[in-house]
Amino acid sequence: MDNNEYFQSEKGNIRSTTCRQNEQMNRNQPQSSFPCNCNNSKPMASPPPCPNTTSPQTGKSDVYHSQTVGVRGPVLVQDTALHETLETFVFSTTLPRRLHTKGYGAFGYFYTTHSMREYTKAGFLQAPNQRVPVAVRFSLAASNQGTPDTLRNVRGFSTRFYTDEGIVDLLCNHLPVFFIRDAINVPDVISHLSPSPVNNLPDPERLWSLFAKYPEATNMMMWFFSDLGTVKSLRHIKGYGVSTYVWQNAQGVRRYVKYHWFPLAGEKYIDQQEAQWLACQDPNISGRDLYDWIAKGKTVEYELCVQLMNPEDAKLLPFDPLDDTKVWDETMYPLLPVGRMVLNRNPDNYAEQVEKLALNPANLVPGLEFSDDKILQGRSFIYSDAQRHRLGPDYRNIPVNKQPNWSPASMVSSGNGRYIAGEIMREGIPNPDNFTQATQRYESFSDMEKNNLANNIASGLVDAQPNTQRIVLSHLERVSPVLAETVRNQMLFFAGTPGR
Ligand code: HEM
Repeated sequence: MDNNEYFQSEKGNIRSTTCRQNEQMNRNQPQSSFPCNCNNSKPMASPPPCPNTTSPQTGKSDVYHSQTVGVRGPVLVQDTALHETLETFVFSTTLPRRLHTKGYGAFGYFYTTHSMREYTKAGFLQAPNQRVPVAVRFSLAASNQGTPDTLRNVRGFSTRFYTDEGIVDLLCNHLPVFFIRDAINVPDVISHLSPSPVNNLPDPERLWSLFAKYPEATNMMMWFFSDLGTVKSLRHIKGYGVSTYVWQNAQGVRRYVKYHWFPLAGEKYIDQQEAQWLACQDPNISGRDLYDWIAKGKTVEYELCVQLMNPEDAKLLPFDPLDDTKVWDETMYPLLPVGRMVLNRNPDNYAEQVEKLALNPANLVPGLEFSDDKILQGRSFIYSDAQRHRLGPDYRNIPVNKQPNWSPASMVSSGNGRYIAGEIMREGIPNPDNFTQATQRYESFSDMEKNNLANNIASGLVDAQPNTQRIVLSHLERVSPVLAETVRNQMLFFAGTPGR
């Protein structure tokens, strides 16, 4: 099947709305993309009959009035046109994503620049110049539809490759590490990142008690509270797979793999002050920037690179390479260029093409597998559960998710042929090493970056409870006594600032 067919089915036949409902929607949304043969747009599969009434405004055939007893009489319960119109309106939205709720989409293509045949048998990575269509969704991890784009957050950067072997989804974040290393803690962490359940307001104690409770989140703290946490343009962010995956080649050799996207236009971030100012000026600035750029006919481009590791190395390293609170040293595991992505098309129907995009790290093709990364193992099944809940059991037949001849047997089973034996248990990893990489990250910053980090931490931590402050400061002490001291001093400054 030509890959472009995936896209050809996106428009038209999107839902079996009746012509009456389409007219209703067309009235509300002049640029509606729900087609109806009543106003000479695209024909529907089985056109329903149009009612014989005429709208005084448009002069078009329409249901314009509810059915009543006389002109001023009550509306009839039997008015099925009214019922359908209102019910269609009520049910017309898709449930929001549980995480990464606010987002933006773009489309284009990916082409392989370097053969990865030595490392993976994935069909679309075998030879230079192989090209596949892509859909990308950028998002804010802890968000609702009203979250300002520039506020401190993790940005999602997910890519769907429509390959000849099936759909491959690569879900990335714009920061390389995660807060925790075991999926069972995710609901708790998300509750710490969410507004208070009492009053729906952000609560510094909820946020900072996350960093007090999970010392493994200290490395993430260094990334999240640096200026990398505040983003103005999605055209200038990196993307990281965060979780460690496995590549398997045709000879059956397996390697661990970490994914990296690099923006070809360069990386750009803003500081907290500018982020807060822009949040008021234009809360949707990064979505607008992406859309307007592509609408002008310009492209957004990223390079995909991977780091590969022999699984045997895990025994020699001072940290666990499957621990997603860690990065891999790029001098030991160099970045190998794989290919480039070009985004050149905006969505023309956000609800159908972006909101209903059901991205799932389990959408793999032979040659791409899961590793034993405990977060990735938790992610292996939860996305399809979320999507069944959000989009319904038929979500794989929504045009943007559809792939030809899909059946459950199309799912790749990771690790076939591996021999594993061991005692069943609930334990942490043997070498958690929560602070070494946090120190390395802090020491890599310039003086200005160190100062901004301390300022960003202190301006929030000052509003947490004293016991939470004490524990977080003790973690910072282990990263760098200088950092802890600077944060302490900044907190005194903020505490004394009038109007807080
Ligand atoms: C065990 C840990 C995790 C769980 C349980 C989890 C769960 C979820 C769920 C339920 C969604 C919403 C899916 C939907 O409704 O379509 C989601 C979205 C997402 N997750 Fe995770 N997640 C986890 C960790 C991660 C990590 C480590 C990353 C880093 C790459 C990540 C990246 C994303 C992205 C980018 C999206 C948005 C996808 C989109 O744009 O539709 N998640 N996650």
